[in-house]
Amino acid sequence: MSTKIFAHRGASKYAPENTMAAFRLAELMQADGIETDVQLTKDQVPVIIHDETINRTTNKRGLVRNLTYEELRQTDAGAWFSRDYAGEKIISLDVFLQWIKKTPMLLNLELKTNKFPYPGIEKIVLQCLTYHGMKDRTTISSFNTDTILRFSALDNEIDTGFLTSRRPRQLFSLMEEIGAKALHPKYRLLNKKLIQDCLQHQVPIRVYTVNQPVYILRALEANCDVIISDVPDRALELQKGYITS
Ligand code: G3P
Ligand code: MG
Repeated sequence: MSTKIFAHRGASKYAPENTMAAFRLAELMQADGIETDVQLTKDQVPVIIHDETINRTTNKRGLVRNLTYEELRQTDAGAWFSRDYAGEKIISLDVFLQWIKKTPMLLNLELKTNKFPYPGIEKIVLQCLTYHGMKDRTTISSFNTDTILRFSALDNEIDTGFLTSRRPRQLFSLMEEIGAKALHPKYRLLNKKLIQDCLQHQVPIRVYTVNQPVYILRALEANCDVIISDVPDRALELQKGYITS
């Protein structure tokens, strides 16, 4: 099976991350899928934003969990990136799913529970995916092993990935314990040993965030299941050359 290219937070090198502008661009570039991040508002609405605060990617300040969805909607999530994107909004998971389900793309939802556990987020996200009929096209990933465990307990059919920036001891027994079906390692972790071990355990590798050509080629060579990249256009271009060479 050939490696799929996912747009990290949308095509986030070219448009403000995790906005509709970045997602539409990813579709235009013909990415195979989108990786995006979910946090929970004060009124329990799952929203698409990477950080726990809105400080970096909007014109206001505060913690997502202390603000309502309505309050988040009042912010500008595009102007920080470039004036051309002023007026972009933080969107809810519901709005995002309503859009992506009409495209052919796959989805990797990262539950951002590594700083705040957002009690109940797993159930809320699962209900949303079920409502939109997106369960079969979605992978749930998290750095938080409890989140993966809770998600696989709620639904053991949905695809899950364990995100990690270092190789823990007993990686494969840990993954089995929490019900993670794939490994989502940081690109620097990808080496011969890890590739071999994953092959042996029949664990797909979905590597992040791979932007430099040398690492993209390495991931293609390793036959990774997915490459998650801020520059999906570059990864797709390299892949074309790689297949024909
Ligand atoms: O899911 C891959 C990647 O997004 C994980 O790290 O911090 O970019 O969300 P981060
Ligand atoms: Mg992410």
